Amino acid sequence: MNEHQPVELVVALSAARKALHLYPPTHPKYAEAIGSLLDAAAACLAEGPFTLNVHLGRLYHGSQVLSVDAPGLRSMTETLESHRVESLTLHDGFTQRDAETLIEVLGLRASQTLEVGEELEKRGVSTVTISALVDEDAEEAEERDRLRQQDRALYNRLIGVLRTLTHRIQKTGQPDVGDAGIIVEGILGRLMEDSAAVLGLATMTGNTESNLFHSINTMIYSLILGIGLGIPEEGLTTLGVSALLHDVGKIAFDMTDPEDAEKARYLHPKIGAEVLSRLPEQDRTPMLVAYEHHMGRDGSGYPEREADYVTHPYSRIVAIADRYDRLTTPLPDGLAHTPDQAVMQLLRDTLTTLDQTLTRLFVKHLGVFPVGCVVRLSDQSVGIVSGMTDDSLRPRVRVMYDPTGLAIETPKDVELTEVGLEVLETVDPDNLKVRISDHL
Ligand SMILES: [Fe+2]
Ligand SMILES: [Fe+2]
Repeated sequence: MNEHQPVELVVALSAARKALHLYPPTHPKYAEAIGSLLDAAAACLAEGPFTLNVHLGRLYHGSQVLSVDAPGLRSMTETLESHRVESLTLHDGFTQRDAETLIEVLGLRASQTLEVGEELEKRGVSTVTISALVDEDAEEAEERDRLRQQDRALYNRLIGVLRTLTHRIQKTGQPDVGDAGIIVEGILGRLMEDSAAVLGLATMTGNTESNLFHSINTMIYSLILGIGLGIPEEGLTTLGVSALLHDVGKIAFDMTDPEDAEKARYLHPKIGAEVLSRLPEQDRTPMLVAYEHHMGRDGSGYPEREADYVTHPYSRIVAIADRYDRLTTPLPDGLAHTPDQAVMQLLRDTLTTLDQTLTRLFVKHLGVFPVGCVVRLSDQSVGIVSGMTDDSLRPRVRVMYDPTGLAIETPKDVELTEVGLEVLETVDPDNLKVRISDHL
């Protein structure tokens, strides 16, 4: 085989593809083009299987770079690249039918779902083998989507379990901690694997049943802090169950009635504690947490108590988690703190109501720009914080808009520490015109 033959093969491939585009398959011009392709292939196959490689916009045969000056070479390179073909190998026995099928398949519109190798196999061609270019970004995005859907399904399942549990308490007055434990363990496993993903879930809020979302989110934030404190697993389950049921006293009220809702505000800790005192289990922590989660460090809050009353540490954890979720959840008027504003507010609250040490630790685990923050970066692109890095000022960001303000079709996660970008400012999420939780 001389050095021109690989080029001639590619020229013939390109010409045949063009012919298929211009003429019906029965046209003599097409038959002629296929004939040339078979001749070129035969010359290349004289010494055994023949491989073409595509790399960074160039075609290679072995170490030989094929000149792009030959007619059709550039367009064939582009075709192979857009079809994610990394290498194409012809084998002995390449027939006219194989040649026609190869040209047909290369003429199909490139898409994420079209795999040239599989398509050829499906059409009965065994003399052409393809190795597909692995698009790492697309694979990563696919895997991320898969996990995301799994997490959403988990969250929705847990909402369902909690709904049933709440109805049962409403009907019988009997809480069932077994089901609550299932919810906690469901999230706990995922939290240990990928806390950023679970924090992304906690940005979900419900227009209806907001109490269910609030309970699950308060549980998630409590567990984040609990894990950060190094509480062992059994303790975490208790903490999670306590957080999940902290507002259980509200079920005694009609929260859609403003007068009832106001009463609930003051009375739900006491009523919740009463409900939870009926738990058959020995563990009194959920009861205590329901009773104490609105007690401020400075003696403010409710129920009223002696000046030297000391709250359970889990109550203090749940109070922080509860506050953070309430701050970041939109009120009926649509207003909510952005996550970074909520963090600042928590720190201010340590002067009066919240436990200082625990709040600081919680803030440390959320970062300066917590998951869900919308940020403008130093290159003017805009994205949503999707996770933390070692540098609390440079989180991981899912870039949604490029520097010119155009929406990015497949948003990519970038670690600011790796790409040398900084956060310029946080942006009002309303400007982004997307629901944050849809993208985490
Ligand atoms: Fe509460
Ligand atoms: Fe609450």
